[in-house]
Amino acid sequence: MSTDTTKRRHPYDARLGFESDIEAFFRSTRLVTATGFFRLNDLFKDLTTIILPDIFETVAKRSKLKILSVGCSDGREPYSLAMAVQQSTKSSRKIELKILACDVNQALIETAKCGIYRLRKDEKRKVQDYRSGFLFLSEDEVLINDTIRELVRFRVSDILMLEGKETYDIAVCANLLLYYKEEYRAEILRKLSSMLIPNGYLYVESVGTKFMENFGLFRIYPGAHFFRKRIFN
Ligand SMILES: C[S@@+](CC[C@H](N)C(=O)[O-])C[C@H]1O[C@@H](n2cnc3c(N)ncnc32)[C@H](O)[C@@H]1O
Repeated sequence: MSTDTTKRRHPYDARLGFESDIEAFFRSTRLVTATGFFRLNDLFKDLTTIILPDIFETVAKRSKLKILSVGCSDGREPYSLAMAVQQSTKSSRKIELKILACDVNQALIETAKCGIYRLRKDEKRKVQDYRSGFLFLSEDEVLINDTIRELVRFRVSDILMLEGKETYDIAVCANLLLYYKEEYRAEILRKLSSMLIPNGYLYVESVGTKFMENFGLFRIYPGAHFFRKRIFN
């Protein structure tokens, strides 16, 4: 068996041919960093109609909410999450929201911190309900407003290397697992499950119900992409 640790491979491999260099893979092509404001309809619908009401209505004095956005690309996803939570809770109660957003790609995180975006046609329609979250610099160029920016912290990090004992109420890992083989998906899911509070929620696609149950994660309804972490005694 080789003892040459300098040749040690990355703990997991991108599926699509690169030599275990996950950062290079995700830096190398625009395709795998595609994102958008309010991109996934079911994510925002389930978040605002099922998850947030459940968190805030069943736990009477709940005033804090922590969200993890993994593979956040250029920041449109976590900023959308911040706007959605803010909008759906503003009339009911004051909550302290904190979002940690991470991505392996440093350039994308720099863009995210800047908070300036050119809206695509499909996004222009989607941001209509959240106009107060943006400052319009021109018809299609926007700056994220300060209140929303303050809710999101960005970090260049591989999810598996993310350190700290912080736990989250909700984790979103959208359009990321599809790039990994099953064994690496398992590693990522184990890590994400460990970062959730009991009864916390994880949004993730490209995984079967039975596979998810290995990590104590149960689909909230048939076909949903949100899973709930159950603790059994
Ligand atoms: C297709 S984009 C998805 C962006 C966003 N989640 C969405 O659905 O709109 C996938 C992102 O995941 C990031 N990524 C891939 N593997 C990662 C890992 N192990 N840890 C953190 N980010 C990762 C890539 O750099 C890329 O920006």
